[in-house]
Amino acid sequence: EESKEADAGSGKADGDLITVGYAQVGAESDWRTANTESFKSTFTEENGYKLIFDDAQQKQENQIKAIRSFIQQEVDYIVVAPVVETGWETVLEEAKEAGIPVILSDRQMQLSDDSLYEAWVGGNFVKEGETCGDWLAKYLEDQGRGDEEINMVTIQGTIGASAQVGRTEGMDNKLKEHSNWKMLDRQSGEFTQAKGQEVMESFLKSYPDIDVVICENDNEAFGAIDAIHAAGKTCGPDGDIIVVSFDSVKAAFESMIKGDLNATFECNPLHGPRVAEIIQKLEKGEQVDKIQYVDEAYFDTSMDLENILKDRAY
Ligand code: AHR
Repeated sequence: EESKEADAGSGKADGDLITVGYAQVGAESDWRTANTESFKSTFTEENGYKLIFDDAQQKQENQIKAIRSFIQQEVDYIVVAPVVETGWETVLEEAKEAGIPVILSDRQMQLSDDSLYEAWVGGNFVKEGETCGDWLAKYLEDQGRGDEEINMVTIQGTIGASAQVGRTEGMDNKLKEHSNWKMLDRQSGEFTQAKGQEVMESFLKSYPDIDVVICENDNEAFGAIDAIHAAGKTCGPDGDIIVVSFDSVKAAFESMIKGDLNATFECNPLHGPRVAEIIQKLEKGEQVDKIQYVDEAYFDTSMDLENILKDRAY
């Protein structure tokens, strides 16, 4: 352990690169692609890093294997975007024992011992869910449907992922405030377009009168919209079904401009520079904030979307 630290120290003094292992969730969504790109463009040799990137294909066991391989390769830092919240203690203890600092990004972990990681940076998923609920309440109110019975379904994200858990919880908090909102069903679309479409197809068969579909990411919404159209129904501001989602990727703006998607609640994927800042502080022995939430907005069809889209980075 001592020699590992000594190596890392002398390596950096010689002007060597800082080696970072990134255990990424997968490539399930546009958001994830933007997140990967943010890491790959930040952790470059030019910037003083060597990035070892691993795509876990949405499987926790693959991420655990990747972390173990980073430990074996004696990287300087391990970054994890954990696919699910639980089940990480053992492997993080192994990293701690090897003296390798761990930084969490995007999704969170549920850990009994917070000293197993240095810091986490990401979106506030509960808040995103609540913002969605508040937006829906105002939208329905403006349509004169504030007291109507509203039938909803949710296409959830990967079950057990903090993005799923948080968004569902945020929406649940708002459901409690509206006794006329009925959540008919919730099923996972695994944060993918294909599964989102499949789940929506089955919802449309089971429930003839859906007013709102909440998709826990934009890609699921794109699949849901295809399913709605295939069933001969319409959606968006002038349609039969209100569709809302999370992330606010460029394609979601295009979908709103087309009139299919009603609103998207932002989740910012550009964590590469944020994680680099944490690493730079740790390198200097500076204090880092343990939990770092990123500011997030929302977008709907009442806005000047074409103009906003011009400046969107993802
Ligand atoms: O953890 C962030 C979520 O993961 C994003 O909402 C989703 O698109 C991605 O798959």
